[in-house]
Amino acid sequence: MATLDRYGRRLGNLRLSVTDRCNLRCAYCMPEREYVWLPRKDILDFEEIGRLADVFGSLGTDRVRLTGGEPLVRHDLSKLVELLAAKPWLKDLAMTTNGVLLEAQAERLRAAGLHRITVSLDTLRPERFRELARVDELPRVLRGIEAASRAGFASLKLDTVVIRGVNDDEIVALLERAKEWGAEIRFIEYMDVGGATHWSRERVVSREGILRAISDAYGSVEALGAEERAAAPAERFRLPDGTTFGVIASTTAPFCAACDRSRLTADGVWYLCLYAARGIDLRKPLREGASEDELRALLSGAWSFRTDRGAEERLGLRERTPLRDVPDLRRDPHLEMHTRGG
Ligand code: GTP
Ligand code: 5AD
Ligand code: SF4
Repeated sequence: MATLDRYGRRLGNLRLSVTDRCNLRCAYCMPEREYVWLPRKDILDFEEIGRLADVFGSLGTDRVRLTGGEPLVRHDLSKLVELLAAKPWLKDLAMTTNGVLLEAQAERLRAAGLHRITVSLDTLRPERFRELARVDELPRVLRGIEAASRAGFASLKLDTVVIRGVNDDEIVALLERAKEWGAEIRFIEYMDVGGATHWSRERVVSREGILRAISDAYGSVEALGAEERAAAPAERFRLPDGTTFGVIASTTAPFCAACDRSRLTADGVWYLCLYAARGIDLRKPLREGASEDELRALLSGAWSFRTDRGAEERLGLRERTPLRDVPDLRRDPHLEMHTRGG
């Protein structure tokens, strides 16, 4: 049964953040020195996540993506993968990771039933990685990607956030490297999400800028049909040699009109939009013993009133500055991108 919002968008895709912790400090996501973390006692255990996931499943959700923070820092994540992969309503189970802990876990995750994996990779230069992520871990990330490429996932993608003056000179090198791994790379516009406190319009390399850099190097770039896109954030393109890649233009050309996604934080707060100021606490009713029917009514009621189109609304702003300031983020860590799942 499909559950539709006010604009006819399905409750189809659930992004499950399994931890707010991360072992990197990427400049576009976690540029501060210190963070306020979610209290440990509030973090849902796997059984609780599974119960909530079933409520989503009964309302038509059939795709789940595990995110963080960094999902692989959560102890025994492959157990959660196994638990979710066994759900009869689930068609697609994916994960977004920074790859640091992937080498040791790739095969186990595949065996546990993870279908697809996306690894963030913003640079191929160790020095630059250290500046961007504030940890010297590029070699481990590269080994993680190699392990994922050997493990036989149904798809392997790479995510690159392109920032002017930081890594915009590496677009072609990254594309070439992705080819060697058999991975599809997606170039992402720098977004003014919560947590991106150093964001500025000047730093954004737009979809046009990204495509220009690629067509300057390869000649023509062919746009693939919209039917292949569905509700996904990436527009896909093909190079003359058949290589495909994606561009995610969430800053200059957002996909809100087709957005079928919602997010659950590690402590059970449900967000109907990446940019939403407030979420709905599902942990409290869950822990107070709400029945599956009661939870279902809560979810479907909220979704049916959904009118969010956060990224599109940002387009209309004359003065576009970071979404949230540091004091707000400290007051409520749920406003952070790393809490609600990248
Ligand atoms: P698939 O389409 O299932 O492969 O996954 P995905 O592309 O949605 O997942 P991924 O985690 O790789 O997301 C890639 C990027 O898309 C994120 O880092 C964001 O920049 C952007 N993005 C993801 N979800 C949203 C969203 O809900 N709203 C907006 N505006 N951008 C999003
Ligand atoms: N802009 C674009 N993408 C972002 N991510 C996090 N912060 C931002 C941002 N400010 C996404 C990236 C990264 C994933 C973990 O979250 O895709 O790879
Ligand atoms: Fe969906 Fe909100 Fe992202 Fe738009 S900004 S695509 S509505 S989550």
